[in-house]
Amino acid sequence: MLEQVEKIAKEIENTEVKLKEELEAFRLKFVSNKGVIGELFGKMKEIEPDQRKEFGQQINALKNAAQAKFKELQDTFENQAMQNIKHDDLTLPSIPNELGTIHPLTKVREDIIRIFERIGFNLSEGPEIEDDWHNFSALNFPPNHPAREMQDTFFVEKDPDIALRTHTSSVQVRVMENQEPPIRTLSPGRVYRNETISARAHCMFHQIEGLYINENVSFKDMKDTLYYFAKEFFGADTKIRLRPSYFPFTEPSAEIDISCSVCHGKGCNICKYSGWVEIGGCGMVDPNVLKASGIDPEKYTGFAFGMGVERMALLKYGINDLRLFTENDVRFLRQFSSI
Ligand code: DAH
Repeated sequence: MLEQVEKIAKEIENTEVKLKEELEAFRLKFVSNKGVIGELFGKMKEIEPDQRKEFGQQINALKNAAQAKFKELQDTFENQAMQNIKHDDLTLPSIPNELGTIHPLTKVREDIIRIFERIGFNLSEGPEIEDDWHNFSALNFPPNHPAREMQDTFFVEKDPDIALRTHTSSVQVRVMENQEPPIRTLSPGRVYRNETISARAHCMFHQIEGLYINENVSFKDMKDTLYYFAKEFFGADTKIRLRPSYFPFTEPSAEIDISCSVCHGKGCNICKYSGWVEIGGCGMVDPNVLKASGIDPEKYTGFAFGMGVERMALLKYGINDLRLFTENDVRFLRQFSSI
């Protein structure tokens, strides 16, 4: 019996494992209750009573040795496995590093700004909560103009009127009040209107306002500038068309159309089969507006334009619902990561 104990002890001591299966075989043979040591425990009754105590101590020591060895083998095994993973297994997937994507409206706004920066426009900003003077009065809106009504504008306060700005034209006034011509500025920002949210309208959207004031600025300068922009933004084959219109702050005023960027003028449901789509308004700054902002209309003339950022994005990327821009659905937003 004693010989057997010694033999097992040697075997335990000399065991080395290279494979996971060998480790498991060691466990079954020496650690498990059904293994060789467990068997020895079963033989206890065959031992003479006066030797039982000693034998018991020996097989207990053997059991402890087996467990310690198993633990040691297991540790080495795991360490090796860890090292293999760290250094060798290049096929393992890397730790995911999720990057966000640029929002399409941010992207379109940046693209528009870059195009105008190239021809000398700087950036200006104004507050989203605006007073009546900057949003309406200085822009030559008559006192009874419909935009001044509650159903069109979100008022924060009445008398004196304070409202969420309805357009970025308010920034024109602030710039002209604070700077001497020549002025060449672009004012991007959020605007608010009391509209029911649908695929085509929203109560909050983005505009980019442009303003150029100098001596001898002509309508042709405006048209050239807008044509340059349309070609840069929508592609070299883009055409523009100015349609007579009315805005209180410009005279003459026009609606800016571009040849449909989706069907290239052939006719589709985006352009309602006309071949043209509207991207904003423009005009020569009304002398009353120059005067209200402290600029001499005898000496200076200028043009202004305002464009919707959402509208540009819709047209450029063929998006059919304005609400997608504010829903934060990553399946939508991710599509613009590489544009
Ligand atoms: N403010 C106008 C709007 O929100 C857009 C606009 C039209 C801006 C003509 C202009 C302009 O500067 O000249 O509909």
